Amino acid sequence: MEPKTGDAFGLMLQAHLDGKTAWELVERDDGFLSGGSVERYFSAPPEWTAFERAMLDRLDGPTLDIGTGAGRFALALQERGVPVTGLDTSPAAIRVCAARGVRETVCASVHRHAVDAAGAYERFLLAGNNLGLLGSAEAAPGFLAVLAAMAAPGAIVVAQGSGPYDTDDPAHLAYHERNRSRDRMAGQLRIRVRHRQFATGWFDYLFLTPDELTGLLRDTYWTLSEVDDSEPPAYVAVLRRR
Ligand SMILES: C[S@@+](CC[C@H](N)C(=O)[O-])C[C@H]1O[C@@H](n2cnc3c(N)ncnc32)[C@H](O)[C@@H]1O
Repeated sequence: MEPKTGDAFGLMLQAHLDGKTAWELVERDDGFLSGGSVERYFSAPPEWTAFERAMLDRLDGPTLDIGTGAGRFALALQERGVPVTGLDTSPAAIRVCAARGVRETVCASVHRHAVDAAGAYERFLLAGNNLGLLGSAEAAPGFLAVLAAMAAPGAIVVAQGSGPYDTDDPAHLAYHERNRSRDRMAGQLRIRVRHRQFATGWFDYLFLTPDELTGLLRDTYWTLSEVDDSEPPAYVAVLRRR
């Protein structure tokens, strides 16, 4: 039997908050299943890598935390007195954020939120691999145009991404090949998150190198101004509005 379509990621966060055992289960459309700890979504800066703490230091103005999850960055920013809005498409994730004390939350896509937030933010955060929310070469320009519409003068995007090529796992290499044969970027994952009997809908999550990112930015309002690649294969990209 197929899983029920539902808010699997948020329900997984809620289960962890309620003290139940939960794992982050991600299913790729070739059947590859990976599991990870949920604990990290609830962690505080002293438990983060230096790389993530350096991201936090760049967020020194009104910030939109896109795909906030359980709100770990939003809470850390609030503690520093930085105005922050935690945005997520998952209603349960937003309830978890509110329960943990995130004061300003929005349950919406960036496209929907932009209608109410023209010019509102100086900083956009895509933490925890959320540069992947660019989705695909086709979707990325639209996503970035919406951020530009919400950008105050001097705005930057601080985004953590991962390159797809630092692997010799035959399953991943075959997946890259399968993607290329379908005119998709090699690291364009089609995935869904599972929790108990629920699964999110399938969505594209993009793993790409800084060079590939530069290519995608060509006809957008954003330019790649800095890359911190001190913890490969992850990196932090800073984009500046042209
Ligand atoms: C990998 S988690 C990262 C959570 C958080 N940024 C962190 O670092 O702890 C991805 C989050 O993005 C949210 N998400 C997925 N697609 C989204 C979209 N299109 N717009 C906004 N949020 C989205 C998910 O619900 C989830 O909470």
